[in-house]
Amino acid sequence: MDSRPGDSRLSFRGVADTARTADMRIVDLAGETEPIREQAALLLVEHFDEPRGWPNLELARAAVEHVGGAEFMRGMLDGELLLGWVGGLPEYDGRVFELHSLVVRREHRRRGLGRALVAAFEAEAASRGALTVTLGTDDDSGMTSLSCVDLCRDIPRHIAQVRDLGRGHPLLFYQRLGHVVTGVLPDANGRGRPDIYMSKAMQR
Ligand SMILES: CC(C)(COP(=O)(O)OP(=O)(O)OC[C@H]1O[C@@H](n2cnc3c(N)ncnc32)[C@H](O)[C@@H]1OP(=O)(O)O)[C@@H](O)C(=O)NCCC(=O)NCCS
Repeated sequence: MDSRPGDSRLSFRGVADTARTADMRIVDLAGETEPIREQAALLLVEHFDEPRGWPNLELARAAVEHVGGAEFMRGMLDGELLLGWVGGLPEYDGRVFELHSLVVRREHRRRGLGRALVAAFEAEAASRGALTVTLGTDDDSGMTSLSCVDLCRDIPRHIAQVRDLGRGHPLLFYQRLGHVVTGVLPDANGRGRPDIYMSKAMQR
């Protein structure tokens, strides 16, 4: 296995043995070639399902440049194929890092790659001083109990009773990784389509 700067072998712990290849590695995407960063933009357009991804390549390219320019990006490469990537953005003077734009290629899901990318994100955020990592995950298509209800009537109850309605919203993935729902922004994506805020404390 290659071991260029930014590569991480530790992050492979969670990846299923059957999913690994000799060429798989986690890299610093900012240091990768233009064609690989272009794949990062393509993944934002073509490999999101629900919640929806970026509407076009131009906006997706801008998002990749924004995250890369603002702080850090980690990608999972297999040879020259980008299997998935994650970005981190600092908030509150770096005490908090936002996980921004996590995506894994459809045909490579449910093998631990998402978990490995989040582990790489958390390790990098913690090494930069993060006390908390956070993210927003939209429910723009009625996938959770937080959709299509009047959240403001009793936000704490809706958060305490949050559940997936059967289509596998990413909040289930983040819960598996230790994130908890810390808030909800009603109607962020239109009436009854909230953004769900989740956070996780870094090791004390
Ligand atoms: C969400 C996403 C990154 C997960 O990646 P992945 O590689 O399939 O996830 P992993 O295989 O590492 O899964 C880790 C755990 O979460 C579970 N999990 C993953 N996706 C899940 C889902 N949609 N529903 C329920 N559980 C899920 C896995 O079964 C696994 O469980 P385990 O702890 O029992 O092993 C991937 O589905 C994706 O890219 N989706 C499209 C983009 C997207 O929605 N990004 C998040 C926006 S906020």
